[in-house]
Amino acid sequence: MTDKANPDTRDLAAATRLVAAGRRPEWTGPVVNPPVWRASTHLYEDTAALAEGPRRNEDGRFFYGRRGAPTQWALADALTAMEHGAAGTVLYPSGVAAIAGVLLTLLRPGDVVLMTDNAYDPSRAMGLGLLADLGIETRFFDPLDLPAYEAAFCDRTRAVLLEAPGSLTMETCDVPALARIAREHGATSVLDNTWAGPTGFAGLSHGVDVVLMALTKHVGGHSDLMMGSASAGADLYKRLRLRAQNLGHVVSPDDAALALRGLRTLSLRLERETASALAIAAWLEQQPQVARVLCPMLPGAPGHDLWRRDFTGGCGLFSFVLRGGDAARRNRFIDALSLFGIGYSWGGFESLVTPVDPASMRSVMAWPPANYAPEDRFGVRLSIGLEDPQDLIADLARGFAAID
Ligand SMILES: Cc1ncc(COP(=O)(O)O)c(C=O)c1O
Repeated sequence: MTDKANPDTRDLAAATRLVAAGRRPEWTGPVVNPPVWRASTHLYEDTAALAEGPRRNEDGRFFYGRRGAPTQWALADALTAMEHGAAGTVLYPSGVAAIAGVLLTLLRPGDVVLMTDNAYDPSRAMGLGLLADLGIETRFFDPLDLPAYEAAFCDRTRAVLLEAPGSLTMETCDVPALARIAREHGATSVLDNTWAGPTGFAGLSHGVDVVLMALTKHVGGHSDLMMGSASAGADLYKRLRLRAQNLGHVVSPDDAALALRGLRTLSLRLERETASALAIAAWLEQQPQVARVLCPMLPGAPGHDLWRRDFTGGCGLFSFVLRGGDAARRNRFIDALSLFGIGYSWGGFESLVTPVDPASMRSVMAWPPANYAPEDRFGVRLSIGLEDPQDLIADLARGFAAID
């Protein structure tokens, strides 16, 4: 039996947890959703209560706006409930802020961080810029080459940043093995789990120490907010929380309410996106203009076996590579599409398309890979939204007609 006032959602299926999580009666009152608490100042009964505030830096306690109020607490609580093994979740003003907040918690001058070579490009830029300026060294590794990864550890390696599947080229790595090796070498593993989210990949259960997400993508789900999160077990959560407070990170209650609204429908949207993406990826595979489809959910595609083994869901984001041609031909294809918006980000209700040129964003992994024909190098990334997949296929067919 669950207590209505304090529901324990841990043993419920993910879809049920998405509905119930974070809805504590002391935060919602008699309504379904926590109201938007817009607040900088929190008021105290008397000076004794005021003096208590700094001494008791705890979740769910009023103090001052930077520590949030029930709207942000409810979102953090819901995300914690979605991540088995998490003691808490820190919210950040963007996904990049989450990556920075986590790495700045774990690393000190002189330390080394191992970063997957197919990391989101701003993560790479953070390693080569911000972290380098602080005397922290970033070394990139091929996440598919476990012996080389293991050999890359040294006595200064403190953290590893993973992403599965990797950005743009979508390689799916063996997260449990990479996390285990990191732990054996005394390093903290961090996973950017934005692609699969908590319903698609249980990061902490697979041995990762910190799971972060850009909530901007699927959790928000409607292309109208920026936010990030990091969830971890008790010790790491405490450190992440303190560092986020040092950095002054806080998210607006309006955005937290939007993210919480998005979270409720996450599994439904992801199921739909995944089914559409699979249909579109399978169709693309049959097109003569397409050399490769980089979609780990597609049977036979690179990474499919690991995806099947470890993941419980997918999403609408994948890439494909045109057969030959040049950048101008690819641009003609993209410009001929009418249902796909041209723009950054992904995970919204609407489909998006961007050109993909990973060569300058890799240090260790070759682009195009050695097993590709050298002329097959012009990539396209699709974020499949909630439109009817047959309409999207017809739109892509129009794009191909424009380059035939
Ligand atoms: C894998 C991944 N991680 C993190 C981010 C950063 O999120 P934000 O745009 O909220 O800073 C992105 C954004 O595209 C992303 O694709």
